[in-house]
Amino acid sequence: MKRSNILLLIILIYVTTACGHKETEDTAVKDRKAGLVEADVAVFYPDEFDSVQTLPSLAIIKDLEYTNDLPDDWNIKPEFSANDSASVVKIAFLEGTDLYGNGEVTGPLRRNGTKIKLWNTDNFGYGKFDGKQLYQAHPWVMGVRPDGSSFGIIADNTYRQTFELNNPITITSNGPSFRVIVIEKDSPEEVLKSLADLTGKMNLPPLWALGYQQSRYSYYPDSQVREIAKTFREKQIPCDVIWMDINYMDGFRIFTFDEKGFPDPKKLNDDLHSMDIKAVYMIDPGVKKDSAYSIYQQGSEGNHWVQDADGNEFNGEVWPGQCAFPDFTRPETREWWSGLYQDFMQLGIDGIWNDMNEPAVFDGPEGSMPFDNIHRGGGYLPAGEHIRYHNVYGLLMVKASREGMMKAKPEERPFILSRANYLGGQRYAATWSGDNVSTDAHMKMSIPMTITLGLSGQPFNGPDIGGFTGDTNEELLAQWMSLAPYYPFCRNHSAIDVIRQEPWSFGKKTEDVSRTAVNRRYKMMPYLYTLFHEASLTGVPVMRPVFFADIKDKKLRKEEQAFLLGEQLLVVPRWATEPALPAGDWKDIPFEKKDDGYQATVKLKDGGIVPMTKLIQSTEEYSADSLTLYVNINEQGKAEGELYNDAGQGYEYESGGYEWLHFLINSENESSFALEVNKKEGNWDKNHTYRLALVTDGGIKYTEWKTEDLTFSLKN
Ligand code: NOJ
Repeated sequence: MKRSNILLLIILIYVTTACGHKETEDTAVKDRKAGLVEADVAVFYPDEFDSVQTLPSLAIIKDLEYTNDLPDDWNIKPEFSANDSASVVKIAFLEGTDLYGNGEVTGPLRRNGTKIKLWNTDNFGYGKFDGKQLYQAHPWVMGVRPDGSSFGIIADNTYRQTFELNNPITITSNGPSFRVIVIEKDSPEEVLKSLADLTGKMNLPPLWALGYQQSRYSYYPDSQVREIAKTFREKQIPCDVIWMDINYMDGFRIFTFDEKGFPDPKKLNDDLHSMDIKAVYMIDPGVKKDSAYSIYQQGSEGNHWVQDADGNEFNGEVWPGQCAFPDFTRPETREWWSGLYQDFMQLGIDGIWNDMNEPAVFDGPEGSMPFDNIHRGGGYLPAGEHIRYHNVYGLLMVKASREGMMKAKPEERPFILSRANYLGGQRYAATWSGDNVSTDAHMKMSIPMTITLGLSGQPFNGPDIGGFTGDTNEELLAQWMSLAPYYPFCRNHSAIDVIRQEPWSFGKKTEDVSRTAVNRRYKMMPYLYTLFHEASLTGVPVMRPVFFADIKDKKLRKEEQAFLLGEQLLVVPRWATEPALPAGDWKDIPFEKKDDGYQATVKLKDGGIVPMTKLIQSTEEYSADSLTLYVNINEQGKAEGELYNDAGQGYEYESGGYEWLHFLINSENESSFALEVNKKEGNWDKNHTYRLALVTDGGIKYTEWKTEDLTFSLKN
């Protein structure tokens, strides 16, 4: 969406929620308890619904006005009940339906039979609550029936709640009654598009955010950061970003720098930039309670802190010791917080990492704040207790952070990574799956977790590659780095007290395997960027479950080792055992001449085209001028694919500064092929030089390069 449109939308949402929302909802509710708000989207209200208790929604960005009665054959009908301590919704569905979504927790891709609690939790090593309560809350379930027709259910409720994914699905909330939105479509993709219409889309990220990223808790001092950057370049392993974890700060005080270790952050960032590397810095919400610290002073003067049940400033322990926490429900507080990024970003900081924003409070109940802490609200948000606002603390924080970054650097697309978030939070930040463990099991589980976040509205996510806590080892790192090309968010990160896990840490073998893997990612960049563009327009995720290739094939519904990258590529990790794969003549792309035994098998769809480019060391060198189109000609002698291309940064693309090409290849005979750009959008009119790489059972066959007269013949 164009920036001007986003602005309009924000104003619209603000106006409708602040001035008329309650009234609209109340009238609607009085008249009717259920009805359609769009052709295939219905909303259901419980009898005792009181809009102020749960609205305005922080997930839904649309006003849900009834347009029609529910059709007689409407299938998914929530049944509401309530008792003194809980609001309950039961939803029955057709037997044989497979359930997905429900956000970021451990466990299988197919969610049937699982129980998930939505209460954002700092869950080190996923050790607490059997990993079923992690950093984010997605009150969202998608059901895929045997025939592929699908539904989606949104519990429009931020309170602490539990989803039991049996038939019926039971949602039990520790808060007041809430409305339920049901989407009914012909396919899971259509359901996800509708989810994105309702909850918003990821904004197109800067291209560099798609590159390989290296992190550690913490690189310290700044000379180590430079050393890491230099080593990537010396070893010719592509890299776009290095991450600064909390030790860059002065005593973990946010927006400050440790004088000894990071005396000149501007110079450090300039040096990184001269190596084509971006710098991302961590900012946590906890502000050290220290009367000599300017951020604490400002926060106290501005009355910005979350309060305890008695209305006093709440304090709890995080890294710096006792902290106060910004009350992000207050518009004044969000404004203040946004402003803090102004000078910070001018130091050449490219991206922001908002961590610990569940919020994590080491000495608080369940590692967070007491349920009865007070968030004072204001603007469109009513005051409420922590039990209401806990799950959206991270979302409101990154919303404010994003606004601050956009003001500080209006010409750049903001990139924020957030640990905590809520359904719809893809509007503001990307995410990673927190403190996983360096084990084979966690590496394998990262696939269903990444897919599931995508099926929950968040396309831009990935795990700590190599594992965060626990020592990784040569074999595991080689295996895990071999998945690096395919995670939407691709970052190697590790804890403070574990063995080093940069790609070269275990010697030549892992280093070579890592280089090969990361090289693949950069070669695929035109395709990856095209997929991110698609996700930003439609909400259909970048990494997808295999069953998307054939929604009627029930055998694919549980597959969670292999996965799809967009529509065209099927990725089978080397360790996959008997993966269920879709029918069709998917052909292996032989990326390298020699197999190192670790790289995943990547298969190109029958009739598919994937654009790739030459090898680069950073997206700063990216160009789509010369493209190799990998092609798998189908039985009809045809193949199709797409390319999206723009400046990779900034907003020129919003006023037409891009090209979006649709390719069609017709094979005239076995060795002659005509390429046609049969659809084009955008004002860019670039001259591309193309060659075709024909993926066949007998390996790969290249044509010559051509700029005009796009008829290609095979070289011998
Ligand atoms: C917790 C985060 O999950 C982790 O990635 C980070 O390294 C530490 N906090 C320290 O900031």
